[in-house]
Amino acid sequence: MSVQAASNKSRVIIFDTTLRDGEQCPGATMTFEEKIEVADLLDSMGVDVIEAGFPIASEGDFEAVAAIASRIQRATVAGLARAINADIDRAGEAVRRAKRGRIHTFVSTSPIHLAHQMRKSEAQVLDIISATVARARNLVEDVEWSAMDATRTPIDYLCQCVDAAIKAGATTINLPDTVGYATPDEYRAMFRAVRERVVNSDKAIFSVHCHNDLGMAVANTLAGVDGGARQIECTINGIGERAGNAALEEVVMAIKTRGDAYAYECNVDSTMLVRASKQVSAATSFPVQYNKAIVGRNAFAHESGIHQDGMLKNTTTYEIMTPESVGVSKTSLVMGKHSGRNAFRDKLKTLGYELGDNALQEAFKRFKDLADRKKIVYDEDIEALVDEEIGRVGERVRVDALTVISGTMGPQTATLTLNVDGQSTTKQATGNGPVDAIFNAIHALVPHTASLELYQVHAVTAGTDAQAEVSVRLSEDGRSVTARGADPDTMVASARAYVAALNKLMAKRLKSKPEAAGAAG
Ligand code: KIV
Ligand code: ZN
Repeated sequence: MSVQAASNKSRVIIFDTTLRDGEQCPGATMTFEEKIEVADLLDSMGVDVIEAGFPIASEGDFEAVAAIASRIQRATVAGLARAINADIDRAGEAVRRAKRGRIHTFVSTSPIHLAHQMRKSEAQVLDIISATVARARNLVEDVEWSAMDATRTPIDYLCQCVDAAIKAGATTINLPDTVGYATPDEYRAMFRAVRERVVNSDKAIFSVHCHNDLGMAVANTLAGVDGGARQIECTINGIGERAGNAALEEVVMAIKTRGDAYAYECNVDSTMLVRASKQVSAATSFPVQYNKAIVGRNAFAHESGIHQDGMLKNTTTYEIMTPESVGVSKTSLVMGKHSGRNAFRDKLKTLGYELGDNALQEAFKRFKDLADRKKIVYDEDIEALVDEEIGRVGERVRVDALTVISGTMGPQTATLTLNVDGQSTTKQATGNGPVDAIFNAIHALVPHTASLELYQVHAVTAGTDAQAEVSVRLSEDGRSVTARGADPDTMVASARAYVAALNKLMAKRLKSKPEAAGAAG
């Protein structure tokens, strides 16, 4: 993408860092398969650059970046590197097979970081910038350089650093608000000053990268673009270090909805935003807050009588963008127990699912079962059910039956029947609460060494008959898997989620050590 093309049309490049800055925040780890699925979705929704990971960080990160680089057809794939030769070489190796590969290298420039973290002088850091950017440029044409903590760096020194990076061959210059400290006016002014003062500034595209510590990441992002930046770094659902990064969906919809104030355009298909949000939330097990702008459950819900009255008369009274424009279907009320298989298949199609005959048959059975137990079946219920069904393909362990005794009297007891490789066995176990009792029963039936890293429950919709969606993350020998289970009974959903995670772990063992992949751990 040339500087010219992006600037002339006031087109902004959307650089998504969900798989790097997003994934590195505590608890948001994604498996290899989940990263591939997210990268595919980002590519199909029109993101321009996908930062796929930090290749030197681990073998897993390297493999994910390399795999994403090999398969992505449209977007540029970037790998992150510190200003260290080994990092840069590893990132270069990871993006080698990309149609369009980028090395993104960074170094701190602020006095606080230089004194306390780097223990280097300004002159030393300038030398490092020249050497490392040049090294990256020898490996790939497309090199991004970032001044970490740019917003707390004196402007004169920041200009010297940017000048050195451009002279050494950087094609994109990113000036991050690493600690989420800047105000919009300051951020805009910084870009204006650097672009005016650095002689060769027109040789590079400038980029914004904002953290949300003061809740100003999106405002700062748009101010930076006003200051001349033409690349926006952001993440789905705004996940990222600490309070997160600027949310992609908010930036995209601000540009689309307020074209009068922000005269820019981007390539992202906004009708895929809600789907992307759900996929990232499911992969990371990070819930999306209900009132989250654009993609939250309540973003298009109107509760008060006055608002509902206005909406019925004309939707523009209280809606500044349509739900359809971000991928929310007009009504989330769907089907009931009288709906047939064809209606169910049609519904799946509109929700973006294409199931094979067997999976469709299973999903339909479970839908009927759910419709018998739940008054209203919403789109979200069907999505939870189908997502779980897709995850069950090839499973070796299945929950056949579960009875739980809970309450104040104790001990809480679970009687569980699992089908393991076609054979049904029942065990009873007690525990410190019903969930613990269920997990103990699973341990007794399928001995394993995996440890439970996360247990999370969400209600899929409102109401006391809502389905519970449980996420479980298990880890074993450095491998970590997340799986979900859904059911109106939270205990059944918990058992299903744990068993689904065990199935995933077993499948992983099978891939890495075919001879040692027994059901028992
Ligand atoms: O916030 C930051 O400064 C970063 C850099 C690595 C670009 O994420
Ligand atoms: Zn960051």
